[in-house]
Amino acid sequence: MDLAGRRIVVGVCGGIAAYKAVEVARRLTQASAEVRVVMTRAATQFVGPLTFSTLTGHAVASDLFPEPAPAEIVHTSLGRWAELIVVAPATADLIAKYALGLADDVLSALLLATRATVVLAPAMHTEMWEHEATSRNAATLRARGVVFVRPATGALAGPDQGPGRLAESEDILAAVAAELSRRNDFAGRRVLVSAGGTREPIDPVRFIGNRSSGRMGHEVAAEAARRGATVTLVTGPTSLEAPPGAAVVRVETAADMRDAVLGAAEGADVVVMAAAVADWRPTDPASRKLQKGDGPPVITLEATEDILRALSARRHDGQVLVGFAAETEDVEGRARAKLETKAVDLVVGNLVGVDDSGFDAGTNRAVLVGRDERVDHLPLVSKRELAGAILDAVRDRFLA
Ligand code: CTP
Repeated sequence: MDLAGRRIVVGVCGGIAAYKAVEVARRLTQASAEVRVVMTRAATQFVGPLTFSTLTGHAVASDLFPEPAPAEIVHTSLGRWAELIVVAPATADLIAKYALGLADDVLSALLLATRATVVLAPAMHTEMWEHEATSRNAATLRARGVVFVRPATGALAGPDQGPGRLAESEDILAAVAAELSRRNDFAGRRVLVSAGGTREPIDPVRFIGNRSSGRMGHEVAAEAARRGATVTLVTGPTSLEAPPGAAVVRVETAADMRDAVLGAAEGADVVVMAAAVADWRPTDPASRKLQKGDGPPVITLEATEDILRALSARRHDGQVLVGFAAETEDVEGRARAKLETKAVDLVVGNLVGVDDSGFDAGTNRAVLVGRDERVDHLPLVSKRELAGAILDAVRDRFLA
């Protein structure tokens, strides 16, 4: 774990687990990271700021309006300075404030005033962690890219037991190291992503489409751009905004998508085909609107070209190809089969047809099946988290 010189803020909230933040700050300092500590007022009731300033060699910020006023505004200057902010423990109150964008103390103001990666390690009583308010706030933050180190199950403050205990410091450090390793790890790489469903015309007003929302592909494109890649996104019709930093090509039909993807693929180091491409299209779409009075039309279909197969047939040396397998059953088996038939490096098998996974859901249940015979079953994660895991797998397993 190489943290030397990395600029990390440790945020500490007021909870009994605040004493464990001392260990987190100490281990980061021992790993030669540049550490600054920001405490809420309540945190200073549990641990003295002197403990942290002695460990890190820097003053602790715990006041939004310190007297005398410092030369620099603390939350904005630290927000710009930090590469990563880890809050341990993160209380229900801090999570709620951050989800709402409140900024009435130095830590919550810092979180709003930064573009750094944010890692939260919650600690609270089980009832508070499992309260719908907290779980919704956590889901909001996850969807915005905030990383959570899940609390452990065990002894809580007082005689209580249950989920809500601050994660072990090794786990918090591992999450910090993993997030820092992602920053700019795709710099200099060209990533092509397809997203959304296609529309195959029946006549000028009707089409055959599918339920793809385009969210998964948009998340992969956005994540690759955040990680420094040059990104092209080829997308079927969707209501989503273009991901910041990606060049977007909008298409309608499978044939348009084929042309756009094959054209852009020549220069790409990585191609992620998240689009739900129509397998068939009407052979002979009507040039004028079909009239109801003419009776139900007979629509003859023909196969579209398989874009992934076409990509693998012409792939250049070192190009990494990723496909998806959206399935209602036997996700792993079908993903394995697609790995072979499409001759790609990685297939992301995901369950569709259930509320928390697949089309238009914010989360996904997925398995990553690789040409290297490795199979990773991921827990229920947000599409943004899944995008991160896919790029990690591409980086670690297939990019030189
Ligand atoms: N795909 C493609 N071109 C097509 C159809 C699919 O490139 N004409 C890609 C998708 O983008 C996805 C993968 O192939 O990455 C698997 O798509 P899927 O629809 O699950 O598989 P199909 O090949 O269509 O097979 P089946 O419908 O039998 O599951």
